[in-house]
Amino acid sequence: GTLTRVEAESAAITQGAVESNHAGYSGTGFVNFDNVVGSGIEFPVDAASAGNVRLTLRYANGTSVARPMSVSVNGGPPVVRDFPGTTTWDGWTNAAVDVSVTAGANSVKLVATTADGGPNLDRISLR
Ligand code: GCU
Repeated sequence: GTLTRVEAESAAITQGAVESNHAGYSGTGFVNFDNVVGSGIEFPVDAASAGNVRLTLRYANGTSVARPMSVSVNGGPPVVRDFPGTTTWDGWTNAAVDVSVTAGANSVKLVATTADGGPNLDRISLR
């Protein structure tokens, strides 16, 4: 299917800031979530039909401690996903999350579940 890319810096951010002080991001920067429970991001997923969509999240976590975020679609039940450490803040890597969407407009929300907040998030690719 069609691959769609959403730059994190153009999505709806809660308790986070767009920054560009670590190399290797796409677009104009990345999102640095505040180091609090509840920092997060919400972005649209437009699906031609109902079914599973793979979200590929490009992130960096320059610590050795995973930064979990809950993932929920259209306000549905959250599923927690770990974002393991990537050693450095310019060490970007991909994490896949499969979500079930309805046909048409969907909203996917990621929310940090620990006081470390989320990892730095560069972009989300969908297919
Ligand atoms: C550092 C780093 C930030 C990162 C932050 C964090 O300050 O420079 O890009 O977001 O750590 O721990 O979340």
